Amino acid sequence: LESYVGHIVAVMPSLLQGALITIEVTSLSVFFGTIIGIFVALGKMSSRKALRWPSMTYIDVIRGTPLLVQILLFYYGIPGLISSMTGQPLRIDPILAGVFVCSINSGAYVAEIVRAGIQSVDRGQMEAARSLGMTHSQSMKKIILPQAFKNILPPMGNEFIVLLKDSSLLAIIGVPELLQSGRLYIATTFASFPVYIGVALVYLVLTLSISKLIDYLERRLGVSDSR
Ligand code: ARG
Repeated sequence: LESYVGHIVAVMPSLLQGALITIEVTSLSVFFGTIIGIFVALGKMSSRKALRWPSMTYIDVIRGTPLLVQILLFYYGIPGLISSMTGQPLRIDPILAGVFVCSINSGAYVAEIVRAGIQSVDRGQMEAARSLGMTHSQSMKKIILPQAFKNILPPMGNEFIVLLKDSSLLAIIGVPELLQSGRLYIATTFASFPVYIGVALVYLVLTLSISKLIDYLERRLGVSDSR
C-alpha cells in the first residue's frame, strides 16, 4: 500500500501537467466546435438544399463514426496517403492534429445542440414577434435567440465534459495529455494500478468542478425561469 501511495505522489506532477494539456485541447476544441456548430446548425435549418445537404451529411458522418477512428484516420491515414503521393514523409504535430479532429468532431454535436435549442423555443414566440411588426431577423435576435441560449447552455456544458473525457483517446497518437502522462510513467515503473487510479481521480476532479461551475452559471442565468 505504501508503494501505491508513493507512486501516486510521484506521478502527480506529470498528471497535473497532462491535465493542463487536456484542458487546453478540450477548451480549444469546444471553442472551434462552437463556431463550426453554429454555422452547421443554421445550414441544417436552411430552406436551401445546397446548405442543408452538406450540413446534414457532416453531422451524420461525424456522429456515426467513432472519435477514435477519426483520430487514427486523420493522424495516420491522411498523412500516409499524402506522403505516398508526394514521396515525402509527412508528420503532423499530435496536439495540433488532436485539436483539429476534436474541433471537427465537437462541431457536429454542437450543431445538434444549437439546432435543438433554437427549435425548442415555442413557434408562437416567432409568430407573436412578427405580429408586433418585427422582421424575421429582429425576432430571431431579440426574442428567439435569448430564449434558445438558456436551452443551449446546459447541453454545451455537457459537451465540454464529454469531450474532456473523450480527449483521453488522443493518448493513442501520443498527445501528452492526462492519460498519456500516466501511461508514460507506467512504461518505466509498471505501476499500473496506482497510476490509473490517479488518472481517474484527476479526471473526476476536473469533471466535478466543471459541472459545479455550469450549475452556478445556470442558476445565475435563471435557466429555471418558468416558461
Ligand atoms: N464517444 C463518442 C465517440 O466515440 C463521442 C465522441 C465525442 N463526443 C462529443 N460530444 N464531442 O464517437
